[in-house]
Formats: sequence, structure tokens, C-alpha cells
Amino acid sequence: MASPSNPQCFPSSLFRLSQLYIIMTGAISVTGSAVLIQNQYRGVVGGNVTFYCPVDENRTLGLMYIQRGNTYVNGYYIREKTSATVWSNTRIDTKKGTMHMSNLNVSHQGDYQCYTMNSGNDLPLVRTDMHLSVTGNYSEPALTMDCCDESPPLSCLLTCVAHGGYPQAEVKWNVSQTHTLKFMNNITRDNVTKLVNTSSTARLNCSNGEMFISCSVGNLRSELLSICKPKYTSYPPWPHVIIIAVLAAGFTVVMVVTLLWWKSKKCKKGEHEDINEDEEEGISLN
Ligand SMILES: *[C@@H]1O[C@H](CO)[C@@H](O)[C@H](O)[C@H]1NC(C)=O
Ligand SMILES: *[C@@H]1O[C@H](CO)[C@@H](O)[C@H](O)[C@H]1NC(C)=O
Ligand SMILES: *[C@@H]1O[C@H](CO)[C@@H](O)[C@H](O)[C@H]1NC(C)=O
Repeated sequence: MASPSNPQCFPSSLFRLSQLYIIMTGAISVTGSAVLIQNQYRGVVGGNVTFYCPVDENRTLGLMYIQRGNTYVNGYYIREKTSATVWSNTRIDTKKGTMHMSNLNVSHQGDYQCYTMNSGNDLPLVRTDMHLSVTGNYSEPALTMDCCDESPPLSCLLTCVAHGGYPQAEVKWNVSQTHTLKFMNNITRDNVTKLVNTSSTARLNCSNGEMFISCSVGNLRSELLSICKPKYTSYPPWPHVIIIAVLAAGFTVVMVVTLLWWKSKKCKKGEHEDINEDEEEGISLN
């Protein structure tokens, strides 16, 4: 990377020269001044962006270079080949006056300046200020629940997680009824990529019955979950449930008793028949 203090270094010395040009042309604005153009660019982590510098296709370009502060990014100079290190994820097209930057990450955001001048040292040297902001797309928020179905307590623990986004964003809970949800948010940041994992855990009391819940991060929304379904909703369990259980138990007891009684009756009758048979045999023997 070019060191700004090294006079051998083409881009940084040119940078100072151009600064001088800006000051000079500002001072002698009567004869023509540098045109300052401002542009906003937006990129996505992993994506690309194309910066535009104003070039006149009908004239020969004398120089075009792009820097970020004192850091040389990429450039072209008609008289010499620059030995300065260029950012490997950039390439310039002097015909169109573009610089293409690929494989964006958060560290690429910032203020860039593009200097262009036509050949023959004719003024003006044009400075174009460009700002690049880079955002990271979070993964779709994943909502999971863990409900205690023992009663009491009747509550659900909900967790919502989204990964790998930028800038920092907090999880928001969307509940179908007015309900004060107690939650705790957590954010972790990768030191290198600056990408953020955002999550939230919430404990929900089921005393209000069934409800629908989802979570969002930015404009991404999780699936909608139904929680605290009726079978878990009240304590003690529904009176119907008790009645049905009692009836079912009673019915079973009656069935078993009836069956046993019927069996034993059949058994006794069978013994009786055997006796009858014996008697019949006895009779036949007689
Ligand atoms: C990021 O999200 C935007 C819209 O939300 C979409 O247009 C774009 O393709 C996404 N980019 C990546 C790299 O996933
Ligand atoms: C973010 O989440 C991803 C996926 O679970 C994980 O691989 C990564 O280590 C996490 N990063 C941080 C900083 O917590
Ligand atoms: C659930 O909420 C009700 C009223 O909103 C309250 O009386 C009850 O104590 C709460 N239960 C738990 C386990 O927090």
C-alpha cells in the first residue's frame, strides 16, 4: 500500500498534487475550477459495486485514480505505469470511467475520491466524492419454542436468532394480543468481518390462552407460531376433561364387570350343562 510520506510513491504524491490543484483552482475560480461531484453507493456483503467517475469519451484521459483518504485504491495515468499496490478486488475501465469493486465486505465502506483529468494537462482536474455504505443481509429469523406442558407453570420459552448481518439490529417480537413480553436481547459481533449475530429469548406466560407470535429483524420476519394451545391453557384442566375421564373410567369399569359377570355366568352354566350331560349319560346307562 502506498505510504503518503514516500515521495517516490506515485499515487500519494499525486494525491498531494491534486489537493494543491483543488486549492489552486478554488482560488482562481475565474479561469475554471474543479468540479466536485458527490455520489452515494450502496453495496451488500459479498456483492459488487461500480463507481462512476466523469470522463469525456471524446477526449483522451490523462489520469483517473481512486483513493480512500490517503489510501490508494486503483488508478491510471497516461504517462507512467504506477507501481502502487491496487486493491485486488477492484478493476477500472478508463473508457467508461468506472471502477468495479467485487467481494464487498463491511471494511470497504467509507469515503472515496476519484480524480480525473483529460490529457494535455488542461483543467479542470475533477474530483468526485463518493460514499460507499455496505450492509449485510441477516439470515431469516429462526423462531423456536420450548413450552412447559406440565401444569403449573404454563409458560413457553421462545428463542429468535438471525445470523450474519450488518449494521447491528435488534430482534423485535410481534405478539397477536396485547401482552407484556419479557425478553432479553443478545448481540455478538465477528471481529474480522464485523458481521453481527442477533438473538432474543422471551418467556411467555400462557394465562391469556392461545396466541400467535413471530419475530423480526429489520424487515425479515420469522414464521408465525401458535403457542399456548387450548390443551395447555388452564389449570386445573378443563372440567370437561375431568368429566370425560371419569365417564371413560366408569364405562371401562362397567364393561369389565359386565364381562367378568358374563364369563362367570357362562362358566357356571357350562358346569351345569356338564352335570346335565353326566345325568343324561347316567340316564342312558340306566
Ligand atoms: C440482500 O437483500 C436484498 C433485499 O433485501 C436482496 O435484493 C439482495 O439480493 C440480497 N443480497 C444477498 C447477497 O443476499
Ligand atoms: C454467528 O453465528 C454463526 C452460525 O451459527 C456462527 O458460525 C458464528 O460463529 C457466529 N458468530 C459470532 C460472532 O457469534
Ligand atoms: C401469569 O400471569 C397471570 C396474570 O397475568 C399471573 O397471575 C400469574 O402469576 C402468571 N404466572 C406465571 C407463571 O408467571
